Amino acid sequence: MTESLAHANIGVVGLAVMGSNLARNLASREGNTVAVFNRSYEKTADLIAEHPEAGFVPAQTYEEFAASLQKPRTAIIMVKAGAATDAVINALVEVFEPGDIIVDGGNAYFPDTIRREKAVRETGINFVGAGISGGEEGALHGPSIMPGGSDESWITLGPILRSIAAIAPEDGEPCVTHVGHDGAGHFVKMVHNGIEYADMQLIAEAYDLIRRGTGKSPAEIADIFAEWNTGELESYLIEITAEVLRQIDASTGKPLVDVILDQAGAKGTGAWTVQTALSLGVPVSGIAEATFARSLSSHPEQRDVAQTLPGPDEEFTVTDGDGFIEDVRRALYASKIVAYSQGFDEIRAGAAEYNWNIDLAAIAKIWRAGCIIRAQFLNRIADAYVENAELPVLMTAPYFVDALTRGQSAWRRVVATAAAAGIPAPAFSSSLAYYDGIRADRLPASLIQGQRDFFGAHTYKRIDRPGTFHTLWSGDRTEVEAEDTH
Ligand SMILES: NC(=O)c1ccc[n+]([C@@H]2O[C@H](COP(=O)([O-])OP(=O)(O)OC[C@H]3O[C@@H](n4cnc5c(N)ncnc54)[C@H](OP(=O)(O)O)[C@@H]3O)[C@@H](O)[C@H]2O)c1
Repeated sequence: MTESLAHANIGVVGLAVMGSNLARNLASREGNTVAVFNRSYEKTADLIAEHPEAGFVPAQTYEEFAASLQKPRTAIIMVKAGAATDAVINALVEVFEPGDIIVDGGNAYFPDTIRREKAVRETGINFVGAGISGGEEGALHGPSIMPGGSDESWITLGPILRSIAAIAPEDGEPCVTHVGHDGAGHFVKMVHNGIEYADMQLIAEAYDLIRRGTGKSPAEIADIFAEWNTGELESYLIEITAEVLRQIDASTGKPLVDVILDQAGAKGTGAWTVQTALSLGVPVSGIAEATFARSLSSHPEQRDVAQTLPGPDEEFTVTDGDGFIEDVRRALYASKIVAYSQGFDEIRAGAAEYNWNIDLAAIAKIWRAGCIIRAQFLNRIADAYVENAELPVLMTAPYFVDALTRGQSAWRRVVATAAAAGIPAPAFSSSLAYYDGIRADRLPASLIQGQRDFFGAHTYKRIDRPGTFHTLWSGDRTEVEAEDTH
């Protein structure tokens, strides 16, 4: 193919559901001509045949694909995360030139993105890891996009990504920002997914408590969620929860939620979020409990055996059903604030660890539309970080203090009720424990330091004078100044 055929301004590699929808989204925007390539040509041929209106430029080989792109060539990879991504990157590096841009739009683990960016940079080609959220509908109509990569690549990529991103209804801003360098985009996408796990678990716990506490049917609870979706909890996840609860199974006539096997799957991003948080030392207990709750649900062999374990003696009944439902709503909102606060803490810690300059307000803003955790209250988070970019604890912003002040009594009642009734509410209760921990004047961590010093001479600090100390526990138990071995 000759240079004169190079007329596409953007290319997509990988034409399964996400890639083909993203390619169609790109093609629908003014000024874009989209080159498409898939390992097996069949998918390319199908896409071209089904969408002649898109004016796609098909390629059968990586060489043809490269030749069909204007310089700097820009290609978005949407293939199975892992080895496939490396295979495609290696192939593109062979046919691209310095200054060109390779974007990985798949769900890569951010350390892989850091590694790939470093390796590709040596060839003079730009590599951008971009988190893309919103599933197949988002890819087609407007996802939330979280790109990392170099400033140079953002100059070319920015306008293209802005043209296809979701639009925040509040101010018409596209839901995309240059998150930070190398793996920053995939890091933020990972935490987005972690928060998604926490949000879904909290909603599931709210449903379970209401159902078991009030005996309401899934359809009645769907109405409650629909009502909640008109207030401060307004969000995509609350909205779809009502839809799922209202669905009737065609073959049995029962609520669909009652015939779906109660074992939650996971593709690993929740686990990555928690593993990363552990290594950064950031307590993301809401996300962790949500991830563990999915694991717990997915061990039928253990659950079968454990059904013999005793629960509370008394039946769980709620006398004031409406009051209880309102308590659950408030507990859900308070717990949700904690989950997001923890998630943003992880982003801040990741930015510090990896030297990314991440604007937390901008992240809250690009999650307002297109992505799974889109919610009205992300505006409040954005406001809080616009007001104070260095806010150490999101929950301490005035809006959240107010919400937690209004919600905390209900939250405590719900957690206490769940414990007494033997209903698992791990995300509700761990969020409350985190809240009480972070606001505590004094924590029993002092005792832990004493224990560590006792068995391992790990030393401790004192509240009344500087220095590092050790008690001679196996000697005369006097205190000595020590080297800091924390
Ligand atoms: N599905 C979602 O809702 C969603 C949401 C956000 C992000 N993502 C991410 O988006 C990416 C694409 O997802 P998807 O569901 O559309 O597709 P997928 O099922 O994850 O991957 C299928 C695509 O990968 C290609 N592929 C696999 N191995 C390859 C290799 N060695 N070399 C070249 N191409 C290879 C396939 O080509 P062939 O046709 O030749 O097999 C096909 O185009 C993934 O990273 C996924 O995690 C998905």
